Amino acid sequence: MSNIKPHGGHLVNKILTGVEREAALAKAANLPKVALRPWQVSDLECIASGAFSPIEGFLTQEDYLSVVNNMRLANGIIWSIPITLAVTEDEAAVLAVGDEVALTGEDRTILGLLKLADKYTYDKNLEAEKVYRTIDTSHPGVERLFQQGNILLGGEVFLLNRIEPAQFKEFHLDPVDTRKLFAEKGWNRVVGFQTRNPIHRAHEYIQKTALEIVDGLFVNPLVGATKGDDISAEVRMKSYTVLLDNYYPKNRTQLAVFPAAMRYAGPREAIFHALVRKNYGCTHFIVGRDHAGVGNYYGTYDAQLIFDNFTAEELGITPLFFEHTFYCKACGNMASAKTCPHGSEHRLTLSGTKVRAMLNNGEVPPPEFTRKEVAQVLIEGLKEEKAS
Ligand code: ADX
Repeated sequence: MSNIKPHGGHLVNKILTGVEREAALAKAANLPKVALRPWQVSDLECIASGAFSPIEGFLTQEDYLSVVNNMRLANGIIWSIPITLAVTEDEAAVLAVGDEVALTGEDRTILGLLKLADKYTYDKNLEAEKVYRTIDTSHPGVERLFQQGNILLGGEVFLLNRIEPAQFKEFHLDPVDTRKLFAEKGWNRVVGFQTRNPIHRAHEYIQKTALEIVDGLFVNPLVGATKGDDISAEVRMKSYTVLLDNYYPKNRTQLAVFPAAMRYAGPREAIFHALVRKNYGCTHFIVGRDHAGVGNYYGTYDAQLIFDNFTAEELGITPLFFEHTFYCKACGNMASAKTCPHGSEHRLTLSGTKVRAMLNNGEVPPPEFTRKEVAQVLIEGLKEEKAS
């Protein structure tokens, strides 16, 4: 097992198996039901697998207010993103505190159980201001917040059925699995990398720079719900496997998906991402430029500065901060303002929008920006998505 303690001390496991699961399924058939949206299904799975330890369920009001206002659970443990289950007033009206509730997918398949401990209203403006630092509904996280129901349900959850991944099954690993894997590989120091994008040369550079000082690299792309114009998880997974096969040392790299949804909460989400990777067994976590950001809502390094609010001990995972990196023609390699003395005229900087446009037109971006194998997968994937 990995040496690093899960957040809060122990790994939560709310996945019911065997007779316990059978009994819960039989009971669930006759319980009131709440249909979960895709990101809520992701949260259920992450809570149950222990990825969100020490959270054992959707937040009750006391924890919710404490997380929103203080970035801590009511017991003082750091937690920066409210993990909530929002429902409409009509849905909430038929449920009473103390009830057990069956949680289903949008297709009504039973996925889990909720022990309803709390049912409360909340201030969306406050959550938006505090968590997203904006109330602008053009922000995808804020937009979802304002669209979701007005009542939050809190309480412990149990997972009864898991949505089977359609592909890349071998990369669906729970924290208990990755901890075991890291131990088997003899990795004591593991750096985690979060992404919702294809891995380009800048990402590769910071990953490999980090790997120089630890034993293993855990590439942990988020595959839950993302905003519409992000590249789909299927295409990204193909691009990661081809990249890792060709350019990464097999004995020092592990790929696995992070099944959560993206919040685009920038700084708050960077803390959350780090704590979750601690649960997966990482000792270090990469935070680069505008981590988990969107548009111009956050300063380039806000997601690094926020770590100053906490002590190293209470975080329990070491963030590795990277400056904005790029390819410098004069240096002849990847660099950042920290390591490159040349002017911006020597630097290759392509915006995400520009790269997306190139890929959409079937153009391969320069090799200093992205590996050709990755570009090919993305061009093919985008073509197929357009055709379907
Ligand atoms: S994120 O929203 O999941 O953070 P993204 O895939 O863009 O998205 O970034 C993954 C990680 O790489 C983040 O830590 C981000 O800060 C970092 N990163 C992305 N591009 C660069 C870059 N050019 N220079 C430095 N860090 C970067």
